Amino acid sequence: MKEQKSEKSEIGNRKSEIASHRLVRLRRKNRKASTNSGALLGRRAIVTGAAQGLGEAIAARLLHEGCRVILADLQEKQLEQTAQKLQSEYGKSVSYKRCDVTNESDVEALMQQADEEWQGLDVFVANAAILFSGALVEFEAAKWRKVIEVNLVGQMLCMKHALKLMARGRNGSFIQINSKSGKKGSYKNSAYAASKFGGIGLAQSAALEMAEQGVRVNAICPGNMLDSPLWVDSLFKQYARNQGITEAEVRQKYIDQVPMKRSCAYEDVCNLVVFLASDQSSYMTGQAINVTGGQEMR
Ligand SMILES: NC(=O)c1ccc[n+]([C@@H]2O[C@H](COP(=O)([O-])OP(=O)(O)OC[C@H]3O[C@@H](n4cnc5c(N)ncnc54)[C@H](O)[C@@H]3O)[C@@H](O)[C@H]2O)c1
Repeated sequence: MKEQKSEKSEIGNRKSEIASHRLVRLRRKNRKASTNSGALLGRRAIVTGAAQGLGEAIAARLLHEGCRVILADLQEKQLEQTAQKLQSEYGKSVSYKRCDVTNESDVEALMQQADEEWQGLDVFVANAAILFSGALVEFEAAKWRKVIEVNLVGQMLCMKHALKLMARGRNGSFIQINSKSGKKGSYKNSAYAASKFGGIGLAQSAALEMAEQGVRVNAICPGNMLDSPLWVDSLFKQYARNQGITEAEVRQKYIDQVPMKRSCAYEDVCNLVVFLASDQSSYMTGQAINVTGGQEMR
């Protein structure tokens, strides 16, 4: 009898274990499905700096959300490869165009492509940027100017032409990818920080100009994406040299600065891109939103 009872309770336990596994699977499935909310279905989007890194991740996420996307970048070969990879999954929703954001006629041609393909534009993600670090007292002025040219003048040129196209449809969301360095000075990184601080002033001013035309302008300020090519291929080396420590020590130093004790992931930024691109953020403009695991509080 005792044995029968324990057998029954064992079967009961097993059944509840199976039920809880099913529940976990169902929750996982729903969580995956809910990443495509349908809020961006059919929207027309451009992403600059989309050949690699965060730009590529944003383009992929917007496609997953049902957008049509033009990928734009300076690196022609890499851009073509990335576009082909995305075309194999999303077909005709993917186009691409070589564009140097510092060259006004390139930027105009990019908007022209959007207008010819789609007769308008809903979302522009201005993500292209460069970074040269170094001590201010030794910084080569030409290198400093180059950073401002790409990160700030490039943003202005993209705004100038994208906002015009969006205003024609009296609707649109311009999303500037900024940085936590747009709000707080960055050690031996003055050109980048200055360009990003300037970006926030530019975004706020554009938001004021465009509000009555139904076009919103916001900025996203991510924390350090330590697994991105920018860090892996370049920043770990630059900072190790500038700060006189090893690359592993640089990584640990930047993790230690984050209250949530992890690197910023592409998905953390993409989630906010989707929100800002959608009508769910329709009462938000001129904002610069941190995605930093709380790092700016430190
Ligand atoms: N990686 C990070 O830790 C981090 C943190 C905060 C903010 N950000 C911001 O995120 C954005 C993307 O950074 P990432 O890490 O993916 O960098 P990345 O260097 O991997 O990618 C930048 C892309 O921009 C392109 N690009 C550069 N100059 C261009 C130009 N003149 N015209 C067109 N395209 C150009 C490059 O070819 C490249 O494909 C940048 O705005 C950067 O400031 C990055």
